[in-house]
Amino acid sequence: MRVLSGIQPTGPFHWGNYFGAIRQYIELQDAADEAYYFIANLHALTTVRDKELLRQYTFDGAIDLLALGLNPEKAVLFVQSDVPEVSELCWLLMTGTPMGLLERCVSYKDKLAKGLKADAGLFTYPVLQAADILAYDADVVPVGEDQLQHIEVCRDIAGSFNHHFGETFVMPKGKVLDQSAKVPGTDGEKMSKSYNNTLAVFETEKKQRKQIMRIQTDSRPMEEPKDPDGDVLMDLFKLVAPDDEVAAMREIYRKGGFGYGEVKKALANAAQRYWAEVRERREELAATPDEVYQILAAGAEKARAKARTVLERAQDACGVAGW
Ligand code: ADP
Ligand code: TRP
Repeated sequence: MRVLSGIQPTGPFHWGNYFGAIRQYIELQDAADEAYYFIANLHALTTVRDKELLRQYTFDGAIDLLALGLNPEKAVLFVQSDVPEVSELCWLLMTGTPMGLLERCVSYKDKLAKGLKADAGLFTYPVLQAADILAYDADVVPVGEDQLQHIEVCRDIAGSFNHHFGETFVMPKGKVLDQSAKVPGTDGEKMSKSYNNTLAVFETEKKQRKQIMRIQTDSRPMEEPKDPDGDVLMDLFKLVAPDDEVAAMREIYRKGGFGYGEVKKALANAAQRYWAEVRERREELAATPDEVYQILAAGAEKARAKARTVLERAQDACGVAGW
């Protein structure tokens, strides 16, 4: 099994990104025969239009993944734009992609609805994503449910290329990440950069404590017993606190006679303990940026070697090589 996924560097990773995606990528690096993970900076360019910010998010994204446990001995970690073969392959795929296929993409329609200007990059985003996947002969692509349509588009594109020019690409399968526990944000809605309700993974203890103390709660009186299920503080607590503390907290909810302030303090303490080690590791990595650059350079080299063979196969199949 060859696993591949990409993550856009559009801002600091938050708890939702970690529990809903990154943690599972990291687990898959052990199960897979080969794993490729990349920072999708070319995709991010469709929304991040500030040069310094994009550079910073790209490098920070790589450091974050390493600090969280992505192991470059087990998985190939690289930056998307370091593999220009993918952009070349993208053009070959673009020539056979029906407009209607892209017009139906929900994520494109959503972005337009949010007020993003329609440009060719945004419209052809799924073709670049298809090139990302096909360039490495990936067969399993772990993604959030919102990305499944793009995997279907990739399969369509690969299928019609194979049909027209002969077997060229490996047909990939999407693997839906377990996002059953949608991580709630500080306002109780789904945690998301676009809602401004995130708790960043790599935050200072002081700032995170403040953010946690500001989480919105209801105004039921202290004495009243409360249902621990479906409560924002409890949902967050479950992610970062050990089982015995969670069980004890559930009891406290059921009995009543407590203030949300106490729960918030317990949550901030549990979060601090939970993230302490990776935050420390991140600081060490950030202090030795050359090592991180080396890891990314080595990753790009491995990724390019693979992508080159697939690109040549595709070029040969459609007659733009060997003439
Ligand atoms: P954002 O909504 O903050 O822009 P992204 O869309 O970049 O986040 O998400 C990257 C990955 O993290 C996706 O796989 C996405 O499904 C997952 N993810 C994001 N927010 C959450 C959340 N609140 N709960 C679970 N998974 C999440
Ligand atoms: N579009 C994906 C997202 O927003 C990121 C991505 C880019 C990706 N290329 C990919 C995911 C290839 C899987 C495979 O989350």
